[in-house]
Amino acid sequence: MESAELFIHSANVHGAGANDRSRLFFDLDIGDILYFVAQKEHNFKEGLTYDDVLLAPKRSPLHSRKEVDLGIQLSEGLKLNLPIISAPMDTVTESAMAIVLARFGALGVIHRFNSIEKQIEEVKKVKRMESYFLEKPLAINPSFTLKDLLARAEKVGNSSFLVVDESNVLLGLISKRDYIFESNLNKKVSELMTPFGKLVCVSEFISLGEAKEFFRTHKIEKLPVVDKQRKVKGLITAKDVIQNYNVRAIRDKKGRLLVGAALGVKDDFLERASALVGADVDILALDIAHGHLEICLDATRKIKKAFPQVTLMVGNIATKEGAQDLKEAGADIIKVGVGAGAVCTTRIVTGCGMPQLTAVIEAKQGAQDIPVVADGGIRSSGDMAKALAAGASAVMLGSLLAGTDEAPGELTMWNGRKVKLCRGMASLAAYKDKNKEVDGQELEYFTAEGVDQGFVPYKGTAKDLLYSWERGMKSGFSYCGARNTRELWLKSEFIKITSAGMKESGPHDVMTA
Ligand code: XMP
Repeated sequence: MESAELFIHSANVHGAGANDRSRLFFDLDIGDILYFVAQKEHNFKEGLTYDDVLLAPKRSPLHSRKEVDLGIQLSEGLKLNLPIISAPMDTVTESAMAIVLARFGALGVIHRFNSIEKQIEEVKKVKRMESYFLEKPLAINPSFTLKDLLARAEKVGNSSFLVVDESNVLLGLISKRDYIFESNLNKKVSELMTPFGKLVCVSEFISLGEAKEFFRTHKIEKLPVVDKQRKVKGLITAKDVIQNYNVRAIRDKKGRLLVGAALGVKDDFLERASALVGADVDILALDIAHGHLEICLDATRKIKKAFPQVTLMVGNIATKEGAQDLKEAGADIIKVGVGAGAVCTTRIVTGCGMPQLTAVIEAKQGAQDIPVVADGGIRSSGDMAKALAAGASAVMLGSLLAGTDEAPGELTMWNGRKVKLCRGMASLAAYKDKNKEVDGQELEYFTAEGVDQGFVPYKGTAKDLLYSWERGMKSGFSYCGARNTRELWLKSEFIKITSAGMKESGPHDVMTA
């Protein structure tokens, strides 16, 4: 019997009004309670996760996995070329991760466990990193000392600046080669810069091909765009022109890399959203462990009302009803997963969760035409293919990316191995770092649902991993006879396996290094 029917059953017993839910439950007698409890025994649902299934190999029309297109449209302005999104965790995604992913066609979501200013800085670093042209290039004053310049360079993650006066008139350009061997930190930028007279400039934005030609003939790397009064209109850089030839990168209309940013559902979330939208973030991710809460639905409505033009991803939920409610509240993308992540302790601490494959299948049924993202518990490209086959449009990865060069944090040694930190964002350690001023009483109410200090093996650059996951996923699609995600949704079939099948699925009866 469905829960709605149960409700009616009790209502009949007591004759309570259908809207008087709280009184109804308050009035239940032991007979009703036993009835509810007995129903649970008959209503056990089965939940499966990635290791419980395999994708059935199918007759395939594909000659090579190169024919597979992993591209997926998540919203009007957001098409991924690789269906991978990095988790907004402070040991996973800041600007370096978002940059490497966007260049590869995937997406980084900058975490929110920092001040609004710091998060905006990270978004801006991504936005500044590449574009066919920069409308607001970094500029400094000629009276800056080399020391000031180095501090600014460190803060913004860039080593070249235009040198301008108070009216934004171009006076020169300073880049690393102008100061790298200078030891006098008090020397003025005006003494070190390449002056305007020696620069090659253009008066308007030119085409990519023309810009390439300029760089080739003049053997330069930076091409300022100035008006008749020498006021700066923008900057074209050789690096960005070269990178624009990278067809897999995902970009906005101005040629800048796409980036997402997370926000919570409490306190400053509207202020944070407004600052992020102001910094041209491409997708906002409303990020809460249990997304099927009234406050999350409410925050979704508020953000969508204030910023209707911005793609809003909301989560996490793990049921059809959760997805339906988020969709109704205005979410553009729904993020799925409760307790599946490598550093989650939600299921242990609260007893709540849903095996991830079932959660994705259920959520897609609730989300229907809007995309769902499978978040947590993914350990291989095989799991990625399974998540997509279950109805996800993309997967979100945390621990798999935490060991890379591009993840925040230092490399350390642990038990003789090179490792990086990967901690739960609902851990006590993360909570204390975020809320430095909380008193003991508030801490008493905090329930940790994450690992304080986990380590993952160091894995080098994320780029190599992305290449191998891409190849693995494409092969998975090919086994299912699918050229793209849509075909995978339609054609793929899961086989439920036993623990013997699981054992057979990995290397066995050989010694592996
Ligand atoms: P993986 O398995 O890829 O999962 O590392 C990443 C996802 O894990 C979630 N996450 C948490 N869940 N407590 C939780 O219950 C935590 O402390 C925690 N930290 C991260 C999150 O959804 C992330 O994307």
